[in-house]
Amino acid sequence: MYRKRSVVALLMAAFSFFLMTRAGRAEQPAAPPDILILKGCPLGGVMFPHKAHAETHAGNRCETCHHPSRPEKPSTAPQQACRSCHVKPPQPPMKTGTQAAFHNPSATSGTCIDCHLKMNATGKKAPTLCMQCHKKENG
Ligand code: HEC
Ligand code: HEC
Ligand code: HEC
Ligand code: HEC
Repeated sequence: MYRKRSVVALLMAAFSFFLMTRAGRAEQPAAPPDILILKGCPLGGVMFPHKAHAETHAGNRCETCHHPSRPEKPSTAPQQACRSCHVKPPQPPMKTGTQAAFHNPSATSGTCIDCHLKMNATGKKAPTLCMQCHKKENG
């Protein structure tokens, strides 16, 4: 009787370990497509060349855009989609909504704009005007 119960316990432990490792793997995000289309803004979707940004513009420093987990809403995966947490309107205790995660209302600062302004000061042509990023043709 005792033996039988410990075999059952062992099987249960093995099964939950199996479930845990499977869940762990499912949380690893797949590499995103080279070009992402971020839809959701009434002004139009934004075509975002992720690969060029990650590898060239940010020199593989993913944390330039993907910040570390924060206590108000901890991450469930590294480099989780911004818009899975930054929604409109922001859900308390979070206060940073969708737009503010990317730029301020006048697009003069923020995650996407700070670097663009800095790059443009060195002669690059990164977009800073609303319609250079938000385009109806992108949906
Ligand atoms: C210039 C900013 C920027 C940099 C640098 C960057 N990313 Fe991203 N990444 C984004 C944005 C924006 C998205 C789309 C988020 C969304 O859909 O809400 C994204 C999406 C992703 C996704 C898909 C997430 C999902 O679940 O849909 C993965 C994975 C990812 N990035 C990995 C990386 C890795 C790895 C690096 C570094 C090598 C990196 N990123 C560097 C901005 C960046
Ligand atoms: C797992 C949830 C989560 C994901 C994914 C996430 N964030 Fe955040 N973010 C937070 C939390 C929590 C805060 C701090 C509370 C607040 O400002 O609402 C924050 C704050 C910010 C802020 C405000 C400035 C600061 O650092 O406090 C910006 C800008 C921002 N995030 C941009 C992004 C971008 C861009 C992405 C995707 C590349 C992203 N976040 C992905 C949860 C997340
Ligand atoms: C680390 C610096 C940096 C960050 C952060 C950054 N960018 Fe860029 N971005 C660049 C540079 C550099 C260029 C290219 C300028 C050129 O081609 O001369 C560019 C170009 C672009 C272009 C034009 C692409 C094309 O093919 O015409 C878009 C759209 C864009 N960025 C969107 C974004 C968005 C959206 C974000 C925020 C999620 C972002 N960028 C964050 C540096 C950055
Ligand atoms: C460098 C590219 C870039 C520029 C320039 C830019 N945006 Fe954005 N904006 C984004 C990205 C990326 C997002 C997040 C994806 C989305 O919601 O379309 C966003 C989100 C938004 C949102 C939130 C949409 C939502 O889903 O809640 C609004 C509103 C917005 N932008 C308005 C503007 C206005 C107005 C301007 C000009 C003053 C502007 N944007 C300039 C890239 C840009």
